[in-house]
Amino acid sequence: MTAHDRPIGYGIDFGTSNSSVSIAYGDRVEVLALGGSASRTLPSFVYLHRGGRRAAGNEAVRTFLISGHEKTDCWNCPLAPYGWDTDCRQYRKGGGCNDARLLSGVKHELAKLGFAGTNSWATDFSVGALVSVVLSRLKGEADKTTGHVVGSVVLGHPVVFAGADPQNRAASDAEAFRRLELAALEAGFGEVAFLPEPTAAVIGEQAHRGVEIAVDFGGGTFDVAVLDSRGGTPHVAGIAGIAIGGESLDGILFETIVGPALGLDALPSWLFNEMRTASSVRLLMADPGIPAILARIGGRAADVVQALLYEGHAYEFYGAVESTKIALSNADTTRLDFEPLSLGVEVRRSTFESMIRPELDLIAATIDQALADARITAGDVDRVLLTGGSAYIPAFRSDLALAFGEQRLEQRDAFTAVVHGLGVRAQQLWGPVALRV
Ligand SMILES: Nc1ncnc2c1ncn2[C@@H]1O[C@H](COP(=O)(O)OP(=O)(O)OP(=O)(O)O)[C@@H](O)[C@H]1O
Ligand SMILES: [Mg+2]
Repeated sequence: MTAHDRPIGYGIDFGTSNSSVSIAYGDRVEVLALGGSASRTLPSFVYLHRGGRRAAGNEAVRTFLISGHEKTDCWNCPLAPYGWDTDCRQYRKGGGCNDARLLSGVKHELAKLGFAGTNSWATDFSVGALVSVVLSRLKGEADKTTGHVVGSVVLGHPVVFAGADPQNRAASDAEAFRRLELAALEAGFGEVAFLPEPTAAVIGEQAHRGVEIAVDFGGGTFDVAVLDSRGGTPHVAGIAGIAIGGESLDGILFETIVGPALGLDALPSWLFNEMRTASSVRLLMADPGIPAILARIGGRAADVVQALLYEGHAYEFYGAVESTKIALSNADTTRLDFEPLSLGVEVRRSTFESMIRPELDLIAATIDQALADARITAGDVDRVLLTGGSAYIPAFRSDLALAFGEQRLEQRDAFTAVVHGLGVRAQQLWGPVALRV
């Protein structure tokens, strides 16, 4: 390896659904293919085992699917030797708990002021420690590939963190940045810089002209940045974001179509709401009061909840709901069949898109806000760069076409445009060419 090939730093996009890493060299930025596969994204899953094992990505899911059902009864648990004299918060007489946990959507917790982390097996896992499982995995693979231990990283962040307290934005944001930085330090980085995700998407472009906006519609948030190069030097003239992403859309599909098809609308509304997404179901699973409540409710709805929470169907079921949404981006109608719950329902794109109309309108208002901050009108925008998995939703795209004109829309790689731009930022910060935007 030549000195020329010494990496300058990494870019890491820690996403709600998918994470990725780019390597910045003096003359180029490479997005790393992970785990020896062609895939350049790592699902943002975190696996924890009571024995100390940690894993991220597909490996986390695979390990969990093999051993996730293994349990230890409290009477037999080394954490509760006398039954009562224990630090374990899950201890219950006659109780027990799973030996492993699979977490998704950890990014949602970054800005939650009241949420310090999760506690399992008498161990506190701070939010930063959970995030660092993913960052360590990405750094480890990148270091292995480059042959260097790289100490500098540019981390992306949403303009508005999902889970931030709207009454206390400044404190929520400060907490989220502190946790992200701690996670990066814990993963072995010494120098950490931050960049808004949509800014990364737009500065990653090879050449700039006129007014460009990048819209990044991901799993947790929608983010937009406006780059104005009309004066010669490109500058970010406006950014905005909102906590609406693919996960909230999965929740709407559940609430309006899938949940009712399963008869779950017979449940008390608080419980129905908690069943909307895989993340909220995880909290129910950890709540020891739920089995008694289900026994009281009884009937088919309670049986379905029982199967989802305690019979190991949740992961596949919520995956099937998400796949149904994704299929609707390419088909007018699709079927959601989930045999373990005897579910078979036809879903139309038009129905789904009318159900998510309020969210799409909020997104349009978020774009308007970024343009207003930049003092730019839609007519002044030369091109709109689309990224993020949810940007494939046809109604989102046609809203943009209506506002800016179809010919101005340019699709970028949905899953790597942000991480590429983060690498470009690393070059700007630490590389030989100081080209700041
Ligand atoms: N073809 C598609 N149509 C609709 N949605 C899709 C499609 N492909 C992926 N998605 C959705 O995109 C989301 C993931 O996108 P992405 O990887 O850009 O998010 P992320 O970067 O992890 O999240 P964020 O940036 O919000 O933290 C998921 O909700 C997924 O269901
Ligand atoms: Mg993203």
